[in-house]
Amino acid sequence: TLKLVVVGGGSSYTPEIIEGIIRRYDSFPVTDIVLVDVEAGKEKLEIIGRLALRMIEKSNKAIHLTWTLNRRQALENADFVSTQIRVGGLEARSKDERIPLSHGFIGQETNGAGGIFKAFRTIPVLLELAKDVHDICPNAWIINFTNPAGIVTEALLKHSPHKKVIGVCNIPFNMRHSTAEILNVKPDEVSIEFIGMNHFVFGSKVLVNGEDRTNEVLEKVTHDLDYSPANIVNLGWTKTFIEATGLLPNPYHQYYFQTADVLKKDLKAFKENGTRAEVVQDLEGSLFEIYKNPSLYEKPKELEERGGAFYSDVACSLMDSIYNNKQDIQTVNTWNHGAIPDLPEDAVIEVNCIITKNGPKPIAVGHLPLSVKGHIYQMKAFEELVIQASITGNYNDAYTAMVMNPLLADEKRSKDVLDELLEAHQAYLPQF
Ligand code: G6P
Ligand code: MN
Repeated sequence: TLKLVVVGGGSSYTPEIIEGIIRRYDSFPVTDIVLVDVEAGKEKLEIIGRLALRMIEKSNKAIHLTWTLNRRQALENADFVSTQIRVGGLEARSKDERIPLSHGFIGQETNGAGGIFKAFRTIPVLLELAKDVHDICPNAWIINFTNPAGIVTEALLKHSPHKKVIGVCNIPFNMRHSTAEILNVKPDEVSIEFIGMNHFVFGSKVLVNGEDRTNEVLEKVTHDLDYSPANIVNLGWTKTFIEATGLLPNPYHQYYFQTADVLKKDLKAFKENGTRAEVVQDLEGSLFEIYKNPSLYEKPKELEERGGAFYSDVACSLMDSIYNNKQDIQTVNTWNHGAIPDLPEDAVIEVNCIITKNGPKPIAVGHLPLSVKGHIYQMKAFEELVIQASITGNYNDAYTAMVMNPLLADEKRSKDVLDELLEAHQAYLPQF
């Protein structure tokens, strides 16, 4: 048997992972899938479960799929456990976005104050999950999509007994695919070296079939190359920034390097449509209506309006390569282990790895370029503080994490935002 457990199975993204499994069935023959969710997600879980069954039925593959609220039971004999949960749901995300914005800061689900609180809510829950995995299916790999994916993965690797944890994101995938498109080559022919952390990763060298085409791609990123996910409006990059750093920024970098412009844009969007959480709530409403249709047998096109579109390609190729010991190269979040000698050995970075049956082996990147070294140092130290605060529930840790974040940094107003968010999310912060 080959068993996959999807934690957060009631997510509107699940049809993607089902499609990915069906598509890879020949090399990665999953026999059992269990979708798990919590009581509050029961109704969504049922709708997704039924759609997933129809998708499998149409595919004619011998995959046995069930759904349950009993996580511990679901984990029995699991080989892979993927996580895609949102503690507190979109309602909590909306607070993460609204509260900072009301104090004049960017409100974003994985960056700034919002990202900090998403980590605070998520880390205790996933530590519990990892403990269960360790007890019940100790050989299983946890494939973590739950945001903030890099921070969460580092927290698990540092504080849980289970060490088979890999973090994933669609951003490096999107960057590679859009680059391939604009160069008129296949994605497989493109390799990009990545430097940094999840949602703070830079692309450095771009090779196409081994040929260095970095300069050509750097030139295109100032105008026609846009690899932003659906949740980010690309404001473009100046030629000066790109030439000076010699790096490809990722879409999330605009929060840090175009802060004033993004804040202005976000405030305008907020007045027109509410926050992204509220836009996503509407999107989800219509997605679930579509999913309910008994004659729907495939992942609907509308899912591409979500920022995480194509995440399942990342998850499924990763599991496929572990299962088959493929030793191909994929970009994942894992232990640094010396790949970037300037960062701690046990820091989690987003890095190209050789994917083996024993997990990802990071490929050496070398020293950080001076142009972004300070930013990466600060963000990594910030991440360490967020993890520490998530575990200790210590107010001073939480406060210093806020002040260290470049999107906040203000000693007085950081406290105001912190206190308001602590209060708003009280029900999901057992450690504070
Ligand atoms: C990107 C990020 C994901 C994030 C998603 C948000 O794809 O890589 O980590 O979850 O955007 O999309 P949403 O549609 O929820 O705003
Ligand atoms: Mn991501």
